[in-house]
Amino acid sequence: MQPLQVLIPMLSLVLLGQTCQDTTTAENNSKDWWQTAQFYQIYPRSFMDSDGDGIGDLNGITSKLEYLKDLGVTAAWLSPIFKSPMVDFGYDISDFFDIQPEYGTLEDFRALIKKANELDLKIILDFVPNHSSDENEWFKKSVKREKGYEDYYVWHDGKVNAETGEREPPSNWLQAFRGSAWQWVEERQQYYLHQFAVQQADLNYRNPDVVAQMKRVLRYWLNEGVAGFRCDAVPVLFEVEMDENGQYADEEVSGLTDDVDSRNYLKSELIENRPETIDMAYQWRTVMDDHQRIYGGDTRVLLIETYAPPAYTMQFYGNRSVEGAHLPFNFNLITVPASNGVSASSIKTAVDNWLLNMPAGRTANWVIGNHDQRRAASRYGVANTDAMNMLVMIMPGGSVTYQGEELGMTDGWISWEDTQDPAACNSNQSLYEQLTRDPSRTPFHWTSGTNAGFSTATKTWLPLAENYKTVNVEVESAATRSHLKIYKALVALRKSSKTLQNGSTKYAVLNENVFVAKRYLSGSPSIVYVANLGSSGTTIDLDQFDKTLPSHLTLQIRSLNSTKAEGALFERNGLSLAAGEALVMSAS
Ligand code: GLC
Ligand code: MG
Repeated sequence: MQPLQVLIPMLSLVLLGQTCQDTTTAENNSKDWWQTAQFYQIYPRSFMDSDGDGIGDLNGITSKLEYLKDLGVTAAWLSPIFKSPMVDFGYDISDFFDIQPEYGTLEDFRALIKKANELDLKIILDFVPNHSSDENEWFKKSVKREKGYEDYYVWHDGKVNAETGEREPPSNWLQAFRGSAWQWVEERQQYYLHQFAVQQADLNYRNPDVVAQMKRVLRYWLNEGVAGFRCDAVPVLFEVEMDENGQYADEEVSGLTDDVDSRNYLKSELIENRPETIDMAYQWRTVMDDHQRIYGGDTRVLLIETYAPPAYTMQFYGNRSVEGAHLPFNFNLITVPASNGVSASSIKTAVDNWLLNMPAGRTANWVIGNHDQRRAASRYGVANTDAMNMLVMIMPGGSVTYQGEELGMTDGWISWEDTQDPAACNSNQSLYEQLTRDPSRTPFHWTSGTNAGFSTATKTWLPLAENYKTVNVEVESAATRSHLKIYKALVALRKSSKTLQNGSTKYAVLNENVFVAKRYLSGSPSIVYVANLGSSGTTIDLDQFDKTLPSHLTLQIRSLNSTKAEGALFERNGLSLAAGEALVMSAS
């Protein structure tokens, strides 16, 4: 039984939770670098092309590291740069220990690291543990059943159909890019599992040699000086084990779609979010910590890609007895508005999903886009660009930017003929626009010139988004006000404000369209964020949110569509907000 004096505050917290959340974090000042970091995702193929082949490369990235430094970025995460037939643009790796030639050489990579070190920028690589390319030596050896490689992948004889007598795949499992997750290999006379494209064969994590080999991959790149890894597609690492007859169970039909080739046609209970996977992340954490212990230097981080329910995702952090990933990515700001529409309440739900589920003492993080999603500005609406960039930077913990979000880059339109993404190419002309990830992967906009300054080629690997002449680094740096300048002001505030680094967090939905948050820390000015995500103006009383706020707040940063004056004082009540207007204010 809880004593009454404990129960009453607990009860009032629960009641308050309907409209307002107050999550108190430990107010200590000794944060490690990654806990307040500004992470920036580079999609190497589309960032900067140094050799005029229309494809971004490592020397291109190196030439633009100063831009990242100028933005205030702490660490850049590079999507895969390893040797690959590029079926899934680098997520199909044929040599985990070498660089893709069209991106450069190991020497180029070392030059990139050297330059990054000079600028005090950290480099994080993409670790793709679940699968390799079918052109990887390991796979070729496994096909031939070479000693030591027989069980490197998930092989199975398949089943014989009782009626037709024909051979069939071992189970009904579906791959992410449409169709069966099993592929027959004539030479080995067996099927192999591939959760993604046919050319992305799933490694067998029930084989200790595979587990050891993939740790070698981690150590190899740690030795090259990287600051950590973003771990790809982690929840699909393990599948259910075979039953006592050596068979894999079928997934049940989900009822979500009639499209039998779509992965959503079936539930994914047997092939995703398995308990064994969590421990693998803990083992990788040990590799990170051991490396730091032996070689010194700053903490090497693990970021984990997972689109799973909170109960599963949160386990990646570790528990009382074991450390896990530093940051499992928080995709709630992507997934919640995607299904409910962008609104103050969907933002609140997304924030709740993380902060109310995160284990005590862990660090939050905020993501609004990546190379697998439509661009943030296109999803939330261009008018909400600054509101969303502000949100991820004023919330506690790490913040992640996908290249171009700082400019408000929007999706490019890609014809069926120009389509590159296997998720779309495996469909047809009438379906591809729903599936394609190409629109957020178009080349980065540096200037208003040819190919937006990305490349001197006559044709870039994907066409540019149409608006590059107005949405680019050159124009936005020269403008008095721009998304880019607002972004930089936010990063600077984040770096200088003790409150943003160490403070507690309170947030609420004020009305249908307005989301409000406050960060506070004793002895340091509070920071208040208000965003009107609606399409019409509104007036708010911040009294309703927090009576302890002073009567006047100082405007620090405003969205591009705001006509208010920075540095001016605003009354906390009767504050008018235009459609899409978002403000960051300070209260001392
Ligand atoms: C991850 C990547 C995605 C890739 C997939 C397979 O989800 O982000 O781009 O297609 O894994 O590696
Ligand atoms: Mg190039």
